[in-house]
Amino acid sequence: MHDTFTGKPTRIRGRSHPPVRDRAALQDDHERRLAALAGLGAAAEKCGLRADSDRDLVLLAEDEVSLLESAGAEWAALGDAIRVWRALLPLRRLEDFGFAADVENPLEESNALLRRVGGGVEAWAFAAEADGSVYKFYLPREEKKIGSAFGFRGGHESRLLAEAGLGTYGALLEKLLLIHALGGMATEVVAATPEGIIVAKQTLGEPLPQGDDMSTRLPEGLIEIPSRFLRANRDHPRLFFLGGRAWLVGDLHARNFVRAPEGSLHLIDLVAAPWPMEATAGDPLILDWLARVREDPRASALSSSPDDEL
Ligand SMILES: Nc1ncnc2c1ncn2[C@@H]1O[C@H](COP(=O)(O)OP(=O)(O)OP(=O)(O)O)[C@@H](O)[C@H]1O
Ligand SMILES: [Mg+2]
Repeated sequence: MHDTFTGKPTRIRGRSHPPVRDRAALQDDHERRLAALAGLGAAAEKCGLRADSDRDLVLLAEDEVSLLESAGAEWAALGDAIRVWRALLPLRRLEDFGFAADVENPLEESNALLRRVGGGVEAWAFAAEADGSVYKFYLPREEKKIGSAFGFRGGHESRLLAEAGLGTYGALLEKLLLIHALGGMATEVVAATPEGIIVAKQTLGEPLPQGDDMSTRLPEGLIEIPSRFLRANRDHPRLFFLGGRAWLVGDLHARNFVRAPEGSLHLIDLVAAPWPMEATAGDPLILDWLARVREDPRASALSSSPDDEL
């Protein structure tokens, strides 16, 4: 199956859930894409190119350093890293998705191929007229930032305060991986545009009424965080282990879930960040808790007493 807009292979079509095998392949794509971005950053640094934002790396053209590739092994490696990256995230123009080229904000309105279904702070969401698949256009903000991610600072009543702020391109790719890994609507990253917009594709679902209580309907694998350890300015902050790493995920309110035709609920959006290991390294209570919930997600905050005695 090929995507209508990019011509590349796709595993997402309309409302139908991809089979388990395809979901695993999609997750693998997310992981390989993140590894390729890290590899690209490392290769660029070896050539003395320090990007002040990962946006500059994300948009490198396939032939960007071709003239320098004979200048040495580092440059040749950078050329290879760019090509690996571009194969995992092709550049496409907004026109390729049916939007007009010559207007101030092309995403403002539906076009003949894409019908607007939503739009929030981070992304403009459209459903394809052809098959209903959802395409989300994440716009760059403050030039080199995109999406949202948690940042951390020390608190009084709790050890850490997590606050959502503008994210990086890497953080957006991590967020899309986490949505997928948490059993969310199948999610694919299909393209970047020259303006720095990231285009993601998702299985279509039915939005939930705003304000529905999600506290007892969160995805499996999410671990409640004692409020003395962390508070967040987004709904239902939770700990999640993926790829040997601990993550904070939050913003798990009803509008970030949709219902599938079978009736099941699935995430479409969240806010995340890697758990700040450095900030909690000196806190034996948190370290002990992290070690125990990694083994058993239902373990309590203190090894000697259940949480309700805290
Ligand atoms: N897979 C989907 N199926 C159906 N509707 C969707 C899907 N993805 C997004 N939408 C619609 O688009 C809206 C915005 O999507 P999303 O939450 O991913 O972007 P956002 O910019 O983070 O929005 P917000 O700021 O409201 O959280 C959703 O609230 C929903 O109405
Ligand atoms: Mg949202």
